[in-house]
Amino acid sequence: MSQQFIVAQISDLHIKAGGRLSYRKVDTLKGLYNALERLNALVPQPDVVVITGDLVDFGRADEYACLKEALSELDMPYYLVPGNHDNRQAMRAAFPELDHLHQQPEFVQWCIEDYPVRMIGLDSTVPGAPHGELCAERLAWLESTLSQRPNVPTLVMLHHPPFASGIGHMDRQRLMDSAGLAAVISRHPQVERVLCGHLHRSIQQRFAGSLACCCPGTAHQVVLDIDPDAPAHFVLEPPGYLLHVWTPEQAMITHMGMIEHFDGPYPFFDSHGLID
Ligand SMILES: [Fe+2]
Repeated sequence: MSQQFIVAQISDLHIKAGGRLSYRKVDTLKGLYNALERLNALVPQPDVVVITGDLVDFGRADEYACLKEALSELDMPYYLVPGNHDNRQAMRAAFPELDHLHQQPEFVQWCIEDYPVRMIGLDSTVPGAPHGELCAERLAWLESTLSQRPNVPTLVMLHHPPFASGIGHMDRQRLMDSAGLAAVISRHPQVERVLCGHLHRSIQQRFAGSLACCCPGTAHQVVLDIDPDAPAHFVLEPPGYLLHVWTPEQAMITHMGMIEHFDGPYPFFDSHGLID
């Protein structure tokens, strides 16, 4: 059996406290518990879980307390990236024991060296604004961190997608300086994926010689409407997760899985062969 490393990714949890519904419609906490149950039941189990931002809905301490209680159900370590709905200070205050959140003084950026795949989290948030940015300081840290171990397969993750999806209202709050990120990533071919969230849908784009992968939300999804003037609407389509499976032979394979349970599985074959 080859060495294998499995990263499960979930995103955009938008947890609220006190049983409140997001946008008075979505039970996001239930969505998270469903996701955690699904990830814990996977065989083989993921080695780690990464969560690419919008952990909570309004960046409040009581929301982070709810999130923390839920995440205690996870059987594996988890790593958190901030999104535009998060608050750096409240997030750090809720998780003083998570060393990765405290690696840098200002930005919640981190690098995890403990696994066969290196994992780097970026902080693309702009306090008080929905769009994302990576300033020169954040990009310089990424450049220097990637330069340290050029031969180790690496996942870079941030909340805001570095590309325009075509969904107009979301593209107006994307990562605004993606040329800077592209320049760094293009110099480091060990970057297997650039993982992001924010779009609440599974979307991929070839990005700077790597592959940018956007993860569905654990509760609500953004409507698939590539009209530039599409209204800012969400839809309760099935929530999902991404499973990034790395082996030395195949490098990274990415699957999208559904969190809810559906009818099946059923066999293709019986004792007579392919079922007619
Ligand atoms: Fe979100």
